Formats: sequence, structure tokens, C-alpha cells
Amino acid sequence: MHRISVGAEINYEVLIGSEWRPFVDSIFSAHKKVLIIAPSYIATSAKLLALTQNSDHTLFITPDGEAQKDYSTAQRLWNLLGESEFGRKDAIVGIGGGATTDLAGFVASTWLRGIDWYAIPTTLAGMVDAAVGGKTGINTGSGKNLVGSFYSPKSVCADITWLETLTDRDFSAGLAEVIKTGYIRDLTILDQLETIKSIGEAREQAFELVAKSVAVKATVVSSDFKEGKLREILNFGHTFGHAIEKNCQYALRHGEAVSIGLHFAALLSEATLGFDPNETAHLKRLLEKFHLPTMLDPHEHNWSDLLALMSGDKKSRDGQIRFVGLRAPGEPDWIEAASADLLKATYEKIVL
Ligand code: GLY
Repeated sequence: MHRISVGAEINYEVLIGSEWRPFVDSIFSAHKKVLIIAPSYIATSAKLLALTQNSDHTLFITPDGEAQKDYSTAQRLWNLLGESEFGRKDAIVGIGGGATTDLAGFVASTWLRGIDWYAIPTTLAGMVDAAVGGKTGINTGSGKNLVGSFYSPKSVCADITWLETLTDRDFSAGLAEVIKTGYIRDLTILDQLETIKSIGEAREQAFELVAKSVAVKATVVSSDFKEGKLREILNFGHTFGHAIEKNCQYALRHGEAVSIGLHFAALLSEATLGFDPNETAHLKRLLEKFHLPTMLDPHEHNWSDLLALMSGDKKSRDGQIRFVGLRAPGEPDWIEAASADLLKATYEKIVL
């Protein structure tokens, strides 16, 4: 197993490899009661069924996708923890995509003011982003992740073999976060992706892509756990991406919305930070090589709806929408005062 340390309110490790089963066994050894939270497509998989037959724990099957990150699911989990008399020494394990680990971490952070939790991300986006860094939360009618906490897992096990269960579409959605990570901090990720010709080839190189991306995330989170400022660079592409996601009621994958958001942020960077237009074209080509969307249908996403959603995003402050942009690849910077006219003109460049 490859191990990467994260220093946050606690120190913990992200294990990258192929050993999620012994990881779960060690959690069962360390805690008397364990609540496993997983969506049905994971919980019913032969792997998990084999595991559940031999152990003493509670399994909660979540709704699929972003729908699980809501108050009613969290409430059902709190009720279950109460009925099962979970105490301070018991633990929660989230196995699934980013929505599941966000939910599991949030419920763990609130139960008895915080019990141990562990993340087993099964998607590429979950491995390189959501499960690492201790941001937990649920959505409200007003926006994504508006209720949540900074609450680190005891450890994370990114078992690369789970990626075999993903469709190409889901794998590519995760690549958007890998590409984001390359652009903000590690140009070797971009060099590697340049040499890769297909999604199949990217799958073969997943271990290295995950290890490099987690290393970046671990460094950033270890310097700025509570997002004083530096951590915001991880939000490159996310201000616009979150608005798109919400506007289409999560019909797009998170990474697909982020992909369009990356293109938007690169164009905005040209006007505000002097980002080279050739680099924007390069970013767009890289995203499209992995079948990621970079443009929007204006009939599905009109500007005033997206603007209203961005204004309500937690990244906006005092009515000012905040973006992360680039001066150059590997040189992120903050865009805090883009005019309404500039934002609209940038939107117009990415509509079909
Ligand atoms: N997903 C961005 C962060 O963890 O800060």
C-alpha cells in the first residue's frame, strides 16, 4: 500500500492500493459497533455481501447519487444510530462515491459531537477529492454542501480495484478533478495525461494518477485545513461547476459540471490574470480527449439562473462571487472582483 499523510485537526493516512477488505477488518477489530453506509450498487455487490456475512455490524443503504446528501437521509441515519445505541467509541464507514463519504463524515461529525469515521471511496472523484480533506456535508434547497463540517476521517482506503466497477463516463468525470489538480499544482499530472490516448489507458495508469492527486490534496489541506485561503485553489472550476450541477438538478456528474467550470474559469483567467488563450485551448482539448463536456446548452442553462446560483454559493462573500483562476498552469490565483458584464461575456463564450 502507498501511504500519504494528511495533517489536519488529526493526523491520518490515505492508503492507496488494493486492500479494502483488510482495511475493513481492522476497523471491525478497533470498534465494537460499526455502521457501514453504502449505496445499493455497492452494498449489493458480491464483494460487500461476502463481507457482511462474516461480521457484526449495521448496514445502511443510501439512495444513489447526490440525492443521499439531504436532511431526511441524515435524519434516518441519526435515528438508526440512536436505535442501535451507538456510543463514542463506535464508528461509521462510508463506502461509495463522494456523496456517500460526504454524508457518512457529516453524520459521524454530528453524532455525540463526533465519532470516528473511515472513508472507502469507490469512484475516481471520491479518491482524488471528496474522501480526502475532511470536508463533510449535505445539500439544502439553496445549494450544495451548505450544511456541513470540517471533520477528518481516521483513515481513508483508496482501493484502485473499485475503479473497475465504474463506467467510462464516471471514470472520466473523476478525471476532471485529476486535471484540475494538475493545473493548480502538479504539472507532471498534465504531462502524464498528455501521453495517455484513451480512457482505457487512463484506467491502466489510475494508481499513479490517484497517488499524485492525493499528494497535492494532502499538502494543500495540511497547510490550510479550514480553508482560510490556500485551500480555495482546490475549488478551481467549482464556482461555475456547482451552479451548473444545481441548475440541472445533478443530472450531470460533479466532474462533468466541473469540466465546464474549468473551461469557464480558464476563459475568465484570460481576462483577469493574463492566462494565455493557447493554454485555455490546451485545457479544453485535454478535457475533451476524455469525453468531458466544456460547453453549455443555453436553453438548459440561462445566464440569470446560473448567476443567481453562484451568488448563493458558499464561495461568494459580501455579494461578491469568488473564483479561482490561473496566471499560468501551476500558478493559481484568486479572482474576487470580476464584473457582472465580464462574467456574462465569459458565459457567452462557452454556450453552444
Ligand atoms: N473539494 C475541495 C476541497 O476539498 O477543498
